[in-house]
Amino acid sequence: MTHTKILGTGSYMPNHIITNQDLAKIVDTSDAWITSRTGIKNRPMTIDENTSDLAYQAALKALESTDISAEDLDLIIVATITGDYVLPGVAQLLQRKLGARMIPAFDINAACSGFIYALDIADKMIQSEAYRHILIVGADILSKITDFSDRNTCVLFADGAGAMVLGPSKEKHIKAIQTFSKGDQELLLYMDSYPLKKNFETPPQARPFVKMQGSDVFKFAVWAMPYTLNKLSETSQIALDDLELIVAHQANERIIRYAAKSLKIPMDKMFMNIGKTGNTSAASVPIAIDEAVQSNRLKRNQVFGTVAFGGGLTWGGAIIKY
Ligand code: ACO
Repeated sequence: MTHTKILGTGSYMPNHIITNQDLAKIVDTSDAWITSRTGIKNRPMTIDENTSDLAYQAALKALESTDISAEDLDLIIVATITGDYVLPGVAQLLQRKLGARMIPAFDINAACSGFIYALDIADKMIQSEAYRHILIVGADILSKITDFSDRNTCVLFADGAGAMVLGPSKEKHIKAIQTFSKGDQELLLYMDSYPLKKNFETPPQARPFVKMQGSDVFKFAVWAMPYTLNKLSETSQIALDDLELIVAHQANERIIRYAAKSLKIPMDKMFMNIGKTGNTSAASVPIAIDEAVQSNRLKRNQVFGTVAFGGGLTWGGAIIKY
């Protein structure tokens, strides 16, 4: 049977940094509040690069870390909620920028869990032997859909991209992967789309922004992370104690601390870069995995866990031998 292996990783964040002090000049907040309630100090925000530009830089780095090139790719999947256009998707723009062949390329929307969903889909596609080399990317520019007069959300969100190149393997590297959704809580975290037409009149154009009920999302997140990791441990028969590292979605340092406490996992096993990244949505997990690899915190043959949650509600995770 054919299994899936991570061949390489890459990530990219814009150089332009917004500090807590910058945000305190535009909304009623403070560095002390943001740091103590979220762990975030700085966050990258793009000025003139669009989502496919971030995705392209991350994908180039991921490909450079492997011995395959863009022409070897059989499929591209991009997880995003903030594409350059509504159509075409970021995946098609990325295919052109990379000079990939006329392969299938598509976007998926599972909010901050999007990268785990992309990994789940790609894993099944490699197992089916229909595809050999798949590029998966999580790329988001949340600053495009953030209301900078809403202090409940604007202190959290950021921009970035992370990528992974996957290939076939005889060994089962993805020990367990699971994704979930629960559509009855849509208004906890949502953004309006186009209004329904009325009598063929052109409606006035109001710019939509993300809206969130923060404390309810917090409660969901501190339930979803332990639920997922326990399920993955059960499925893979790998004890959480035996994981080298856990790379969780970087939404709030307090959420990661709560999850670690309820699972009795020491904090030095919880990868954390939120202080300098903020919440980059679908990019958060692949950026964190790439940083763990680049800093040698995650080495070849070590087994790690990853977990994410987001709008939808969606959530999921994986236990993987790197
Ligand atoms: N600065 C100062 N005060 C603030 C700020 C701010 N930036 N934001 C909120 N407050 C105030 C609130 O108005 C409230 O004041 P009140 O008591 O006078 O009404 C008080 O702080 C407490 O508000 P809470 O919402 O209870 O604060 P909480 O400790 O829950 O922190 C936060 C808010 C950071 C949003 C937290 O709930 C959180 O992280 N939730 C999860 C969010 C998340 O992860 N979202 C992303 C999901 S992934 C995706 O799909 C994009």
